[in-house]
Parts: sequence; C-alpha cells; structure tokens
Amino acid sequence: MKRNHYRTATVILAVLWIVSAGTLFYFLYFGVARTGSDGRQIVSVTEGEKQFLLQEMRQLLSAMQQIHMHMGNGDRESAARAAESVGMNMVDELAAVEGTILLKLPAPMKKLGLGTHSEFDNLARTIRSDASEQRIQKEIGELMTRCVACHAAYRLP
Ligand code: HEC
Repeated sequence: MKRNHYRTATVILAVLWIVSAGTLFYFLYFGVARTGSDGRQIVSVTEGEKQFLLQEMRQLLSAMQQIHMHMGNGDRESAARAAESVGMNMVDELAAVEGTILLKLPAPMKKLGLGTHSEFDNLARTIRSDASEQRIQKEIGELMTRCVACHAAYRLP
C-alpha cells in the first residue's frame, strides 16, 4: 500500500516537472507575446523597455539617413561609420543596460534583430571596400528587408 503511494507521488512529480519545464521552454522560445487585432504579435514589454526599443529604432532610421547622405556626398568613410554605429556594438550596449528585454523577445524576432545589427557591420565593410555604389545600394536594400519583415510580424504594446 505504502509503495503504491510512493509510485503515485513519483508520477505526479514527474508530470509536474514536465509541465513546468515545458512552460518554461515555451516562454523562452516564443517570448511573452499575444496576437493583436491587426494580426501582428504584440511583444509584452514594460513601458520603459518600449521607450528603450523605440529609441533604438529611431537610431536605426537616423543611421540609414546618414548612410544615404554621406554616400551621396561621396564620403564613404563617414557612411561606413554611420553603419557601424548601429552594428553589433549597439547590441552589446543594449544587453548591458536592458538584458531582460532580450529574454522577453520571441526567438525568431531576436534572430531577426541581431541579424540586422550584424548586417550593418557587413555593410560598413562593403562601403570601405572597392565595391561599386550599385552593389552597396543592393546590400542596403537587402538589409532593409529585415526592417520590413520584423515590422510586418511584431509590434509593441
Ligand atoms: C527585430 C524586429 C525589428 C527590426 C529588425 C527592426 N524594427 Fe523597427 N520596430 C520594431 C517594432 C516592434 C517597432 C514598434 C512598432 C509598433 O509597435 O507598431 C518598431 C518601430 C520602429 C520605428 C518607430 C519608432 C518610434 O519612435 O515610434 C522606426 C522609425 C523603426 N522601427 C525603424 C526601423 C529601421 C530603419 C529598421 C531597419 C534598419 C528597423 N526598424 C528594424 C521592430 C523591429
């Protein structure tokens, strides 16, 4: 009789373990998100984190503007520096200040975001090389498919 109790307890504990591990894994992978009325995923971040992310976004837009302007002026080194300013260095800063944001983002979104920053580093390298302006324009166009893809799939609360 007593052994049966132990067995039942073991089974219950095992089930509880699987459920909690599963839930943890679900949130780690998908982040904390729900679907909004426009069909996009709303990523649940706090108001402060939202302001932080939007400020990062405005930096991306500003870097894009700088890159185009400097390229137009034939100043490739300044264009490369503008691209670098939003490269992987920016992610390191973000991780240091707001590491919890990165935990909350769904894995595919995080991948898209990190990929964008490393593409800016690649772009800086291309601008500094002897690549033609057409090739640089093409690379910028490809990089920006990431901006478009993420905005189409995700939004903030
Ligand atoms: C990994 C996802 C992701 C990528 C990549 C991304 N964004 Fe965003 N961006 C967002 C989200 C989410 C918002 C908030 C949109 C909303 O809530 O409707 C946003 C908002 C913005 C805003 C509005 C900022 C404000 O103050 O309201 C700008 C500008 C912007 N993004 C520019 C860019 C540019 C330029 C790129 C590419 C170089 C880019 N973003 C790439 C996720 C992304």
